[in-house]
Amino acid sequence: METRTPAPIDPALLADATQRAVAYLDALPARPVRAEPDAVAKLRYALDAPLPEAGRGARDVLAELDALGSPATVASAGPRYFGFVTGGSLPATVAAGVLASAWDQNAFSHASSPAGALFEEVSVRWLAELFGLPASCGGALVSGATLANFSALAAARHALLARAGWDVEADGLFGAPQIPVYVSDEFHASVRKALGLVGFGRDRVHRLATDAQGRIRTDALPPLAEPALVCAQAGNVNSGASDPFEALRDWCDRSGSWLHVDGAFGLFAATVPRLRSLVAGVERADSWAADAHKWLNVPYECGVVLVRDAMALRDAMTVDAAYLTVDAPREPFHYGPELSRRARGVEVWAALRSLGRAGVAALVDRCCRQARRFAEGLRAAGHDVRNEVALNQVVVSFGDAAKTARVIERVQREGVCWAGPTTWRGAAGMRISVSGWATSDADVERSLASILRCAAAER
Ligand SMILES: Cc1ncc(COP(=O)(O)O)c(C=O)c1O
Repeated sequence: METRTPAPIDPALLADATQRAVAYLDALPARPVRAEPDAVAKLRYALDAPLPEAGRGARDVLAELDALGSPATVASAGPRYFGFVTGGSLPATVAAGVLASAWDQNAFSHASSPAGALFEEVSVRWLAELFGLPASCGGALVSGATLANFSALAAARHALLARAGWDVEADGLFGAPQIPVYVSDEFHASVRKALGLVGFGRDRVHRLATDAQGRIRTDALPPLAEPALVCAQAGNVNSGASDPFEALRDWCDRSGSWLHVDGAFGLFAATVPRLRSLVAGVERADSWAADAHKWLNVPYECGVVLVRDAMALRDAMTVDAAYLTVDAPREPFHYGPELSRRARGVEVWAALRSLGRAGVAALVDRCCRQARRFAEGLRAAGHDVRNEVALNQVVVSFGDAAKTARVIERVQREGVCWAGPTTWRGAAGMRISVSGWATSDADVERSLASILRCAAAER
């Protein structure tokens, strides 16, 4: 009797998924950028159902997902999405992600996935190189900058307390020597959250005064009497400005303090020779957090933690169990907060392999030029651009808070582009963040025209 090994997956199913994905991406530039409320309502209604008793065929499931889910998405992968510092996904990374899904690797160790471990290792090394950080850096790919900040602060906590003779991993923080924490007045909410998670406390911090662009003021630094944790940032979420790292490093050095930099997107300024001065001295910090799913344009969810003293990160994160074999000098599970995880390195590698150093620099530079064009067009029409547009962020106010909110609502409803609200230095504004690989100059002009039209309609 003839026996046939069944195909592991119906090729028509993957072909169908590919076709639908291509149709989705093809339609992105022409569709409204926001999720249409009707489509969201339809999805909510459809999902408000009990757990099905019987299953359905995969082709039917895919068709249902596409019919219900695709219209309810935000076109954030498209060329005119300027919300929340959101990159799209480079073609090479979408394709790599499809293959990586088929691989379904658990990248926590070499035994579990040599490929996953090696792609992560090269990604961490290339990212450190891309940002101009020391070759000694240890690091890991994590779900995003929030987890990268958390991991870096865990390494800082380990190092500062170990120097004070305290084993925080073993003994916790009860009774531990006190570590003062200094943060920028403008520190990101995720750093505040991370400080809480590592037990330093969200609010047990000394705030450092900042200037009009949100940079720590070096003329207002207090004396540091003992080793502290200092949290600075590259890329303020509103202005895009970065802290004065040279001065902060010198200030920290006088007391043996740890300097951490949240550089979720701002660290990418280091990739462009023309912009490198915006983050001068950033390579002198002790730890860094950055995102790949923002300006590197890899699919969610992917961030990177980098720590100058690789052993500090390793000591904070290491775990052992009889079944966790160590088969290589760098085991991923020694460097990050997770055990099981997807092979994030595949997409980071694909992004860096397809763009190269020059391609990343060109992408970042183009976004900054496009942000300047937004600012110039808005100013020319008499609107109040409230930040120095040195990077990819623009904050514009259209009058009082209520009027600014109405303009933002109108822009989102018109659907040509999407930008969200913020409050910057006491004033309500619309925040435009240019971070996507797919945004052309024509997209910027169309979006600018839409914003100006909506502002005029509210005049
Ligand atoms: C400066 C900064 N830090 C941290 C984060 C948190 O990043 P994620 O959302 O990837 O966790 C963000 C994201 O908005 C950010 O802009």
